[in-house]
Amino acid sequence: MSVRVLVTGGTGLVGQGIKYVIDTEPANSPFGKQDGEEWFFVGSSEADLRNAEQTKKLFEKYKPTHVIHLGALVGGLFINMKRKLDFLRDNMLINDNVLHNAHEFKCKKVISCLSTCVYPDKVEYPLDETKIHLGLPHESNFGYAHAKRLVDIQNRAYKDQYGDNFTSAIPTNVFGPHDNYDLESAHVLPALVHRCYLAKKNNTPFVVWGSGKPLRQFIYSRDLAKLFIWQLRNYDDVEPLILSVGEDEEVSIKEVADAVVKALGFKGEYKFDTSKADGQFRKPASNKKLLGLIKDTGFKFTPFDQALQESVEWFLQNYEKARTGKPQ
Ligand SMILES: NC(=O)c1ccc[n+]([C@@H]2O[C@H](COP(=O)([O-])OP(=O)(O)OC[C@H]3O[C@@H](n4cnc5c(N)ncnc54)[C@H](OP(=O)(O)O)[C@@H]3O)[C@@H](O)[C@H]2O)c1
Repeated sequence: MSVRVLVTGGTGLVGQGIKYVIDTEPANSPFGKQDGEEWFFVGSSEADLRNAEQTKKLFEKYKPTHVIHLGALVGGLFINMKRKLDFLRDNMLINDNVLHNAHEFKCKKVISCLSTCVYPDKVEYPLDETKIHLGLPHESNFGYAHAKRLVDIQNRAYKDQYGDNFTSAIPTNVFGPHDNYDLESAHVLPALVHRCYLAKKNNTPFVVWGSGKPLRQFIYSRDLAKLFIWQLRNYDDVEPLILSVGEDEEVSIKEVADAVVKALGFKGEYKFDTSKADGQFRKPASNKKLLGLIKDTGFKFTPFDQALQESVEWFLQNYEKARTGKPQ
């Protein structure tokens, strides 16, 4: 039986991580391509998923049996604060079009991507799969958060009304090759890499926005890719699944900045701008459910420093084609 996997958002950070694993792991190995599988990685140039007609045409073209739905308007804290309506509307339209067509085309399975930053602002930690809807999200990203939370509601409604096998994955902060390094919209880790790179190049101070104190869990895109591939093949439950390193692996923004300084060999002045927002202080997520499910797969997380080093190397080698915006 042929399996045709459509990866929306396939040109982005997470999508390219999955493509890398599918292209490089041995065929028929646990995370490699299986006989009879075809994978299609599509970006917005193939179809604007906010548009119903273009989304339908995309499904007509690829006839997917399975969908990993990553396509989304994505960005860091500062762009989320600025464009709440865009983050709400674009993501609602994208998700509705993808899920509606997956249903119409009778896809056997869809995994959509949520994020730990859609959880309630005030909630008991650690986050787990049962707490997504237990309170309002943080003010800084309520547009993105509400749109993403609705995916879980839609999945349950599709299952309830039609028995569709739609589910979701909840990664923590992702980083890796093909990240978005545009300082206007980047997440914290690629923004730090780019800022430090420019500080080194221009011989200026490396300024980290915020106090450096907030704690985050970071997952390497190529590790996340393996977990998505495992989930696609093995997990048939509407309940979301947190895809994350353990709670004991939280790192502070200062620790990330220190690792970036080391990876780039930056020797200049390095300071924190505490007039800039910090966002949520911490939001540890539990990966207990995941670890219980994958215990026999041989999966191992890449150590943070190694993953950061590989990501920085990719950034340096691909600076011209990477998403960097307009560096000064
Ligand atoms: N990065 C993180 O830290 C993080 C953390 C948790 C969850 N996530 C989730 O992971 C998923 C992938 O994120 P990412 O970090 O890989 O983001 P990314 O690198 O910015 O990639 C976003 C992808 O979505 C596509 N896209 C955006 N708008 C679209 C539209 N209107 N129509 C069709 N495609 C569109 C982009 O296509 P083009 O580039 O071709 O325009 C790109 O392939 C998202 O659902 C995000 O919410 C990310």
